[in-house]
Amino acid sequence: MMEFNILTLCYLVGSITFILGLKMLSNPATARKGNLIAAGGMTIAIIGTIFLYKDGTGAKLHNYVWIFGGIFIGGVIGTLAAKKVKMTAMPEMVSMFNGMGGACAALISIVEFKHLGMEVVPGTGNAYMPEGSESTLLIILLGLIIGSVSFAGSMIAWGKLNGKVKDFSFKGQHIFNIGLLLGILALAVYLFTSITASNAFLIYVLFAMALMYGVFFVFPIGGADMPVVISLLNSFTGVAAACGGFLYDNKVMLTGGILVGAAGTLLTILMCKAMNRSLSNVLIGSFGASAKGGASAGMHGSYKEISLSDTAVLMSYAHKVFIVPGYGLAVAQAQHVCHELEKILESKGVELKYAIHPVAGRMPGHMNVLLAEADVPYEKLLEMEHANDEFGSTDVVLVLGANDVVNPAAKSDPASPIYGMPILDVELAKHVIVNKRSMKPGYAGIENQLFFQPKTSMLFGDAKKVLQDLVAEIKNL
Ligand code: TAP
Repeated sequence: MMEFNILTLCYLVGSITFILGLKMLSNPATARKGNLIAAGGMTIAIIGTIFLYKDGTGAKLHNYVWIFGGIFIGGVIGTLAAKKVKMTAMPEMVSMFNGMGGACAALISIVEFKHLGMEVVPGTGNAYMPEGSESTLLIILLGLIIGSVSFAGSMIAWGKLNGKVKDFSFKGQHIFNIGLLLGILALAVYLFTSITASNAFLIYVLFAMALMYGVFFVFPIGGADMPVVISLLNSFTGVAAACGGFLYDNKVMLTGGILVGAAGTLLTILMCKAMNRSLSNVLIGSFGASAKGGASAGMHGSYKEISLSDTAVLMSYAHKVFIVPGYGLAVAQAQHVCHELEKILESKGVELKYAIHPVAGRMPGHMNVLLAEADVPYEKLLEMEHANDEFGSTDVVLVLGANDVVNPAAKSDPASPIYGMPILDVELAKHVIVNKRSMKPGYAGIENQLFFQPKTSMLFGDAKKVLQDLVAEIKNL
């Protein structure tokens, strides 16, 4: 009894620290600590389960070699992967880890299905599910379907993000997907209402169908929409884990699963809002796949270049400067030298701020995390709406490796795949300087008319090298 109380306390600590950690994750200044606090709480809950949990018969867990063997192997792989991963490859790692969570939930369902046991009806040879197991079976089926879809979908998303899997769709795929989903639901209802020992193997058919659905569900979705899909799959994994919590009557698993499910759903909604698209449009329309089209594709014009010394003069004598960071800044790992530029300009009396677009980069909050890494003060980061209000009174906007998030086609070209997505209105400033390596398009694969506007000047080169040279040039002024 005493152990049970301590275990309950461990679960309470796990749940509270998880909620606290999630809250702290919403601010870059506290995110790292929040992550550690939540991980610490989960460790307490896991250790508590391993050593204090007792089943209905009072038996404790005993297969410690398997348990600690698994923890050791998983821990080593996870630590190495997390240490090695580049910031720009973070979404694919999140996808892989999320897929593992889905696979766990699906496997728990399969194992617990076997534990359900069948009662043989005397004289008939038929075996049926024991009385009172209906709710357990329902949770098993739900966990199996949702976990498998999340696992298979996340693996495809992982492959797409690292370029190993190409977009794939065929005529009538949406109809096929809907048919497959209906088939899964029908089989689940059949199993729930009519399961016997002789048709229990159908659980494996359900497993295979759910895996197939996960694959076909994610296959046709364009690469640019992948983070939205990953966030949606993340919420699926949360719900599947919560099913595991129900099955084991484990409060911390239940709380964790529900929180992950809710957080994933909210993030999905926020990302869709930031791109001004509905979730169905993301899932059915294929933004990334069709992105090469649109009236702005193939648009040409003349652009002008600016030298480093002219850029240095323009920025040093400006009153107010905005930096717009984008994916290219993360690729170049130029965040530290960017902060150096900020400090040197401020020492010359220039007011400097950063304009942060919600989907700049390749994952939610990418730019915030990147700049926090270089100790850029959080107050200097302005969200899109506030930055847009200030561009009119800005002398120079320096666009650093950003492209789609400053593309005016989003406002002016109904045929553009990014039409309707809110963008940073940098063209309202007096001067716009764009740093990138070439005239190549950004992630959506479309040309950017901003580069051809009279007030825009191109400053070509790798962001890190250009910023290093620019800082040196300003120092010499
Ligand atoms: P992009 O539109 O992808 O543009 C990035 C630009 O950076 C490219 O045009 C590239 O041009 C330049 N670049 C690459 N490496 C560089 C380097 N070393 N130095 C300087 N420039 C470099 O990025 P964005 O404006 O940040 O927009 C993000 C896009 O990704 C949006 O389409 C968004 O929908 C999508 N997306 C966002 C997310 C989230 S949630 N953040 C997730 C997935 C996709 P060059 O090749 O000419 O250098």
